[in-house]
Amino acid sequence: MADAKKLFIKTYGCQMNVYDSERMAEALGAEGYAPAASADEADMVLLNTCHIREKASEKLYSDLGRLKALKAEKPGLKIGVAGCVAQAEGAEILRRMPLVDLVVGPQSYHRLPAMARAAEAGTKSVDTDFPAEDKFDHLPDRPAANLRPSAFLTVQEGCDKFCAFCVVPYTRGAEVSRPATRILDEARRLADKGVREITLLGQNVNAYHGEGLTLARLIRELARIEGIARIRYTTSHPNDMADDLIAAHGDEPKLMPYLHLPVQSGSDRVLKAMNRKHTAEAYLRLIERIRAARPDILLTSDFIVGFPGETDADFAATLDLIRAVGYGAAFSFKYSARPGTPAADRAPVPDAVADARLQELQALLTAQQRAAQQAMVGRETTVLYEKPGRLPGQMGGKSDHLFAVHVHDPDARPGDLARVRVTEASPNSLGAVRVA
Ligand code: 5AD
Ligand code: SF4
Repeated sequence: MADAKKLFIKTYGCQMNVYDSERMAEALGAEGYAPAASADEADMVLLNTCHIREKASEKLYSDLGRLKALKAEKPGLKIGVAGCVAQAEGAEILRRMPLVDLVVGPQSYHRLPAMARAAEAGTKSVDTDFPAEDKFDHLPDRPAANLRPSAFLTVQEGCDKFCAFCVVPYTRGAEVSRPATRILDEARRLADKGVREITLLGQNVNAYHGEGLTLARLIRELARIEGIARIRYTTSHPNDMADDLIAAHGDEPKLMPYLHLPVQSGSDRVLKAMNRKHTAEAYLRLIERIRAARPDILLTSDFIVGFPGETDADFAATLDLIRAVGYGAAFSFKYSARPGTPAADRAPVPDAVADARLQELQALLTAQQRAAQQAMVGRETTVLYEKPGRLPGQMGGKSDHLFAVHVHDPDARPGDLARVRVTEASPNSLGAVRVA
């Protein structure tokens, strides 16, 4: 048999892209493509792109620039662009970068095998459709060898919220929920292959409403699958935190005490300009209700600084909100004007001001994160082992609160759930000893 063709995928951006890259690798795996360790070894390179901020989308063009030299050495190399930049720019990518052989959007990557065959035969193709058929029905079943104890599972895609800064409603399209029966089937198959933890993914995951089921109902159905020990979900919008979902955090033991709930800003003026459709006060009341249901829940968020029109007072309100909530971790970004979004033409905050605000915000968030890590020392938690740690006999995994934890546990295996006591906290991970 001829040597297998090799595929290298580079993934930019969010967890949804990580999941999509795994599924694309599997779709091309069925076409005879084995994974390559680097672009240098590959017959095909796929760049699974992100469009959320200017920096992320520029990376595509700098990486393509670098691939030019490789393609000059290896003319048979095929290059594909997938993900949100593919969706947003489509055929424009082929015009700007003639070395690209195929461009495929996030809703049509089940058609990749045919596009790869065309590329091998010398025909370029672009597919940025939002097809009527569900791509997930046309993808191969997930091979056990590709799965780890913790897996992502996309349940919802797209967004109808139209925050004034965000490209997602344009690149990922309108909100669509996958049918619950399909999700439950996929979860059962994952469990049969040794998956113990499922993270439900969606751009607006708590707006899930497949076959009349809310996200909370879906979580309760998933919790009945025996092999599944833990359930998480991300990313949520505050306005979709329904009562039944909050209640599930209180009484569904498999739902982990962790919630990523982006607020973006603590200023009502800015929230209004962002079209977030809630106030800072409403967010704080919501957090109170979530904590009443699950007192030990760890909260994380996303923040944007330097949104057009943001004043010092607005920024101070964001710092106040952060102090009021106390986050376990957070992502923060400097506003990046995205073409085609409502805020794109508004007068920007000077760059130096935005930079200084970002630094101040990140210092506060880092201090909160360190405090949350330090507060774990001496406490017991449960860890799902994912892979061997750096030292001999060590296992690495995640705690209930999604902290990375390493434990000396020579007899353990990936997929084991261990009760541990945390003994030390460092910025990257917690150290712990097994107690049960
Ligand atoms: N500029 C900066 N950050 C952005 N985000 C989304 N769009 C932009 C933008 N134009 C951030 C938000 C969102 C996260 C995924 O990315 O904080 O929650
Ligand atoms: Fe973008 Fe999230 Fe707002 Fe939707 S809810 S527009 S994905 S920031």
